[in-house]
Amino acid sequence: MTADYEQHHSSAGNEWWRTAVIYQIYPRSFADSSGDGIGDLPGVTARMDELQQLGVDAVWLSPFMTSPQRDAGYDVADYCDVDPLFGTLEDFDQMLAAAHQRGIRVIVDLVPNHSSDQHEWFQQALQAGPGSPERARYIFRDGSGPDGDEPPNNWQSIFGGPAWTRITEADGRPGQWYLHLFDSSQPDFDWSHPEVQAEFRRILRFWLDRGVDGFRVDVAHGLVKDQNFPDYTPDPEAASMGGDQAPAPYFEQPGVHEIYRDWRQVLEEYDGDRALCGEAWVSSVEKMAQWVRSDEMHQTFNFEYLMADWDAGQLRGIIDRSLAAFHGVGAPSTWVLSNHDVVRHATRLALTGDNPQGAGIGPDFPGLPEYSHGLRRARAATALMLALPGSAYLYQGEELGLDEVHDLPDEARQDPTWFRTNGERYGRDGCRVPLPWEADAPAFGFSPNGKSWLPQPDRWQQLARSAQREDPDSTLSLYRRLLKLRREFDLGAGELQWESGLPEGVLGFRSGSVLVLTNVSGTPVAPPEGAQLLVCSSDLSQGQVPADTTAWFRMDRD
Ligand code: NOJ
Repeated sequence: MTADYEQHHSSAGNEWWRTAVIYQIYPRSFADSSGDGIGDLPGVTARMDELQQLGVDAVWLSPFMTSPQRDAGYDVADYCDVDPLFGTLEDFDQMLAAAHQRGIRVIVDLVPNHSSDQHEWFQQALQAGPGSPERARYIFRDGSGPDGDEPPNNWQSIFGGPAWTRITEADGRPGQWYLHLFDSSQPDFDWSHPEVQAEFRRILRFWLDRGVDGFRVDVAHGLVKDQNFPDYTPDPEAASMGGDQAPAPYFEQPGVHEIYRDWRQVLEEYDGDRALCGEAWVSSVEKMAQWVRSDEMHQTFNFEYLMADWDAGQLRGIIDRSLAAFHGVGAPSTWVLSNHDVVRHATRLALTGDNPQGAGIGPDFPGLPEYSHGLRRARAATALMLALPGSAYLYQGEELGLDEVHDLPDEARQDPTWFRTNGERYGRDGCRVPLPWEADAPAFGFSPNGKSWLPQPDRWQQLARSAQREDPDSTLSLYRRLLKLRREFDLGAGELQWESGLPEGVLGFRSGSVLVLTNVSGTPVAPPEGAQLLVCSSDLSQGQVPADTTAWFRMDRD
């Protein structure tokens, strides 16, 4: 721990987002009250007690706004309304009230990089001609080549295939091309346009006025593009959502920070510590910290931590670098292990071979671990993460120990990645399968009538919440205990001090009176004299912390 860290730590405030545990709700897969097989907002309200019992401080909801659902709601047609699939604005208000009554804050997802092609503005742009004010809100360009029938440059969509699509003009002739970093149904806005900037201020205020506590900002590194639109070929090894060493001309452009400085001022018009959390897939925590400078966002996901292997050296390195980088700008680190875009960590942390981030895994994936092996590591990894100072995000279902559903039938898949690569990349459906609530109900209680937009695997019966609630050894019980102790010992606001002299492959640190030992090696390690066990991600073996296990101990001070 450096003096710099201490200095920044002591100057930090006590705003809720600095230490909060935030639970990601993926609405279409959380709980379906209507019986259409897709989760909805009344389903969230009905299960709010479960989230309170789990002990989370806040929830983040992935998009539930009006959308044709070509990218599961990340293609928004109306930013200020609820899609009928998920309910109504009144259902949203009820859900928000139910959360607030239980002391749970609510963050909603904001998708500013692109809209749906069904958004009113894009439809107007299609009707209006080249050079019109309507087209100027998006990124339309003439094609290259003698007849303009080649895309303006070589950029590729994150989901595969070209990032440009040619339109047919209103008079029926082949026309201009528009940019979409994701699916062709998700045209990118031109963020240099004042109307785009003003519209998003309006959208922020719409939800802030309704009482939300903050926003998770989609593709927060992508809004501004290099205006020269140079050709660019990404590093094939880099994470699919970004994170190349050399920034792509459509990611990490310096102008993007001006947008968040502007938004920060909007949030500061409101009371109650409203917060912005950026989804910025950039290549290092040092770069990520630029999104959370004191006049920009409040949090940004620590994706370098998420991408780390189950390896003591890598974990210690990224923890140290994260604390230094984020505290260097007066921000908390925002730890995360799973979300709706990555292979669930109960599978990912024990894969043999490469972690195919973004590409997903399918039925023939060669490096699949035994479930129990992956789960053991996942429980240890979560217990480590929840002891770290800062804020942490959980993804729905990880508290049940859900694994990646690699064996979905091809015909069930819905991720645009699967279609845009002609089945070459499986995509993210495997981490989005609806939650099991009741072991003996149809669709494991996800819906009232057994419908489920993606099929649930039979093996999840034993992982249903009902089967775990009363079992002290269940993953759900472990999460509850960890969250309770984290709160009791105020670990989110703690200061981490590494223990010295531990065997290789063992991470150990103190945070206040709590000692945390994570054993990533094969050899059991003994806690020091006088250590009293608080919680263990598996079982101690003859008083020692065995492999793939994290234990928290209380150290009495004399
Ligand atoms: C990141 C979101 O998390 C992902 O699910 C989505 O497909 C892309 N951004 C595009 O909005």
